[in-house]
Amino acid sequence: MSAPAITARQDARSRAPSPRPITIALLGLGQIGSAVARCASLSAGSAQPVRVACALVRDPSRDRADVPAIPLITDPRAIFALRPDAIVEALGGLEPARALVTDALERGVPVVTANKALLARHGEALLAIAVRTGTPLRYEASVLSGVPFLGAFAARPFVSITGITGIVNGTSNFILGRMGDGESLADAIAEAQRLGIAEPDPADDVSGRDAAHKLAVLAWHFGLGAFSPDAIETTGIASLEAGDLGCAGKLGGLIKPIAAVRRAADRATAFVGPAFVPLTHKLAPLGGVDNGVLLDTPGGRLSFTGPGAGPFATATTMLDDVVEAVRGGQPPPRHTPPPAGVAPPSTAWFVRLRGSELPRGDEVAEFLGSHGVWIRHAASCGQRRCLVTYAASRGRVETALGALALATGVEWLALRTLED
Ligand code: HSE
Repeated sequence: MSAPAITARQDARSRAPSPRPITIALLGLGQIGSAVARCASLSAGSAQPVRVACALVRDPSRDRADVPAIPLITDPRAIFALRPDAIVEALGGLEPARALVTDALERGVPVVTANKALLARHGEALLAIAVRTGTPLRYEASVLSGVPFLGAFAARPFVSITGITGIVNGTSNFILGRMGDGESLADAIAEAQRLGIAEPDPADDVSGRDAAHKLAVLAWHFGLGAFSPDAIETTGIASLEAGDLGCAGKLGGLIKPIAAVRRAADRATAFVGPAFVPLTHKLAPLGGVDNGVLLDTPGGRLSFTGPGAGPFATATTMLDDVVEAVRGGQPPPRHTPPPAGVAPPSTAWFVRLRGSELPRGDEVAEFLGSHGVWIRHAASCGQRRCLVTYAASRGRVETALGALALATGVEWLALRTLED
């Protein structure tokens, strides 16, 4: 008796009209834009097809053999004449992306972007236009591009976030992993570029700028504060050597590219940079281009992990955003506290000393202690000695290490340390 009923339902489904395709205008046809075009072309016949009406490019004569045939335009004014259901901004950079996104929102055309540099500097202003005009602005792929979690919180205003700690740059996580296996920085960057995970200018990944942009986006999205990415203490990974990563292992940890922000009362603290992460920490197992974000709430720590970079992961999230933007409205923004500036935190430190004649461990401990820096653990590896200190300000640690270098001739490197 049940078989015919199932058949009837299947027949009804197969006769159901296919949904109207959503039409998008694509701004930019670089790695991300091309991936969006490819994914959209695969959506024909799916539950929600997406059609690319046009792509705005600088040079239409460029060879684009790997991109499905799409009308290419060079004049932004032609975009709106095509009446797209949404704009997908994949230009990167600040201008003309900011002007075009503003124009679309003012005209009531929903916008999807993964442009963290744009959002870090103009996100609040763009969101204000989106709210005023009732036009969706979605940016799920701007941070942890393959892990949809920003939108989920936009609709949950009662979850209060007091701190965020994460690995938000896949390229530098990938590079540090490769360097841990003995590869050079240059080779690891070249590989990240080949995989399409590095920024067009990989200096943004290596210097920590990309992560600072993402941290600024996270801070205002989760209501921890609105501040410029330039105000965040940002350290790159270029000064690290494979031997430093090996030495961290002797102290039971890894060096990972960390971004962290915390809010207490009217003050935010934040930093971006390579940090010593104990093996027991939730972010320690994340390797390759995987990203992770831990959100501290009064009820406990929430964790989100997954692919944080790569054209396919990013394009998939952006197309999901397109569907959300066209079907749904703009969720109200979370309350962002008034800007109160941002300062570097006081943390524990991982210190690497190097030299042909290293001072004895007890001499180092006494010297640093006399400058107010106290050692928790230490280990020796060849011409390196590594320490983990108790919490101190950057100024205090750098002053103490500068004095030690003057007195003994050692070279030093100091990285922040995460607590479990
Ligand atoms: N270059 C970025 C990264 C791409 O490596 O994380 C994704 O934002």
